[in-house]
Amino acid sequence: MPALKFPQRGSIGSTQRSDRWWVAPAATAVGLCLLFGYLTFRAFNPSHVWYDPYISPTVAPPVFTAESAYPGSVPVELAWLGAFPAWWPGFIPQSPAFLLPWMALAFRLTCYYYRGAYYKAFFLTPPSCAVGGRRQRYRGETRLFLIQNLHRYTLYGALFLIVCLWWEGVSAFFRNGQFGIGVGTVVMLVNATLLTAYIFGCHSWRHLIGGRLDCFTCDGAVSPRYRFWKGSTWLNERHMQVAWVSLVWVVFTDLYIYLLSTGAARDLNTWQ
Ligand code: FES
Repeated sequence: MPALKFPQRGSIGSTQRSDRWWVAPAATAVGLCLLFGYLTFRAFNPSHVWYDPYISPTVAPPVFTAESAYPGSVPVELAWLGAFPAWWPGFIPQSPAFLLPWMALAFRLTCYYYRGAYYKAFFLTPPSCAVGGRRQRYRGETRLFLIQNLHRYTLYGALFLIVCLWWEGVSAFFRNGQFGIGVGTVVMLVNATLLTAYIFGCHSWRHLIGGRLDCFTCDGAVSPRYRFWKGSTWLNERHMQVAWVSLVWVVFTDLYIYLLSTGAARDLNTWQ
């Protein structure tokens, strides 16, 4: 089979490839617009984000709550610091999403997988391998894109958030102090599990737990750290799939709680 020639820059989409190379970037663009569009809308419209004892991941953990501004908000007694303070600027919606949950967005936007995906899907630089892209001089991730280097630090924010989400998931076993379980409990726990898998498959996490070592087993022993790193490597090899599934599940979790809170759906549980 003759080798594919690399196309000239500037001739967007020109290629000798005969497969449907455009499907992946097109699906990525549509998926990212839909999912991040939904989450952005919910961040600015945080109504019906709570249904006892479930809390949407879009506002968890709730530092402040806007109980009086939005129906279905987290009750004041459950917010870490109560209601939004009077000094909160009036032109910014009183949304708990702007306080801590935004760190999840920063983590995703700087993720190595997502970077590659949205550079192809939106910036067309190039849209796929051996396909012509936008004409521009290659500068790497410099200037504004230096911000992508913050990914290793956004990891710490994600680790903090995942602890909070597990706490919220375990708390979803209790309604008014009574132990039980509902479909919402399972939905929240699956959400925390998928996000944990996404974080533990992160390249920065994998480097953090094992990247600085030359040898794990030189002393003849297989350390727990080596096993942990191997587990992270397994997840890392599936990082793209986990990134998408976990993102869809965040949206699904929020939507499920929204439907319960508005009365449009009923939760099967052991409390009733
Ligand atoms: S590389 Fe994707 S979350 Fe770190």
